[in-house]
Amino acid sequence: MLNKPIIDRINRPLHDLRISVTDRCNLRCEYCMPSEIFGPDYQFLCKDQLLSFNEIERLAKLFVELGVKKIRLTGGEPLLRQNITDLIKKLININGLSDIGLTTNGIFLPKIAKELYKTGLRRLNISMDALNDDIFKRMNGRGVSSKAVLKGINIAQELGFQIKVNMVVQKGINDQEIIPMAEYFREKGITLRFIEFMDVGNTNGWNYEKVKTKKDIYQLLSGHFDLEPVESTYYGEVAKRYKYSDKNAEIGFITSVSESFCSSCTRARMSADGMLYTCLFANKGFDLKTLLRNGLDDAAIREELISIWNHRHDQYSDQRISNHVDKRQKIEMSYIGG
Ligand code: GTP
Ligand code: 5AD
Ligand code: SF4
Ligand code: SF4
Repeated sequence: MLNKPIIDRINRPLHDLRISVTDRCNLRCEYCMPSEIFGPDYQFLCKDQLLSFNEIERLAKLFVELGVKKIRLTGGEPLLRQNITDLIKKLININGLSDIGLTTNGIFLPKIAKELYKTGLRRLNISMDALNDDIFKRMNGRGVSSKAVLKGINIAQELGFQIKVNMVVQKGINDQEIIPMAEYFREKGITLRFIEFMDVGNTNGWNYEKVKTKKDIYQLLSGHFDLEPVESTYYGEVAKRYKYSDKNAEIGFITSVSESFCSSCTRARMSADGMLYTCLFANKGFDLKTLLRNGLDDAAIREELISIWNHRHDQYSDQRISNHVDKRQKIEMSYIGG
């Protein structure tokens, strides 16, 4: 373990690692994997391009030695990766890691939640954009019912998982679901987080007109509920949190567009094929898989990781001009997992 945390060019420590385990997904949410682009001919990563679980574990250990305390598994849909619980077992046993979570669309939870819990996983962030079935079916591009996700959430809650529900809000698409979603998850005591639609990748048709900002959403909610702000619990926390005054439940806002949070961004991201990105909006990654497969030893890889983080200066959301569609090539959300 290093004595001093490694920092980037604007003094941000490395604290979190988001690991995408597959670029595939069973859904086709328009804002993430539009079906016109991610159709039957789309070339997903093939098996030998994927990092093996041993490779992921080795890299994760090195990251933890460099100060990473928190790992989040993402995809695509991470539960599509075969034997994912074997990977979770390996990661949970890493000394020095204090938190591990998984972000999922929830559809496979009825099948696998019990096994995940037995493995030791305790935190699930589940994406769900509408309770209304017509809206949900349209948004997920595969006609899957919202009941399927609710079933997964219920099972996970009964098992004892800590759950957050993520709702990406788009004007004119699902903003009429803000209050019903808030009411529903408030009653269940589950944190609901409203995510501003982001301009990730180049295929999701983002434009500022579609963004429902925190301010808009908060205004709407405060007409229905009494809310109090909650102090963030750690440096670099992504969501701005509030609690209901009369109920033990929280909401959060992820405000990448209207109130960016780059100045405290402590996250590194690794794709399923072992590319390391230092920002969600990056257009260039660092090929860790080749380092591994060329036989570099731990010390050499560690040096590479330190150098990559020391050179980092990404601040995409701070620098974004809010209503401007950025045409530069960016990685896709399904590839890097958000
Ligand atoms: P916990 O706080 O650990 O529960 O998870 P999280 O909110 O960091 O992870 P989750 O996968 O649930 O992500 C929620 C939303 O926040 C997604 O839309 C992510 O893309 C977004 N997000 C997470 N980290 C960043 C970030 O560094 N930059 C931006 N712009 N968005 C982020
Ligand atoms: N903007 C905001 N959030 C997004 N997500 C996927 N694509 C986008 C986008 N363009 C969310 C998913 C999931 C999380 C990992 O990222 O809904 O909850
Ligand atoms: Fe799949 Fe999540 Fe992307 Fe929807 S947002 S297509 S569930 S990875
Ligand atoms: Fe971090 Fe990039 Fe998101 Fe800013 S835009 S918070 S630097 S991932």
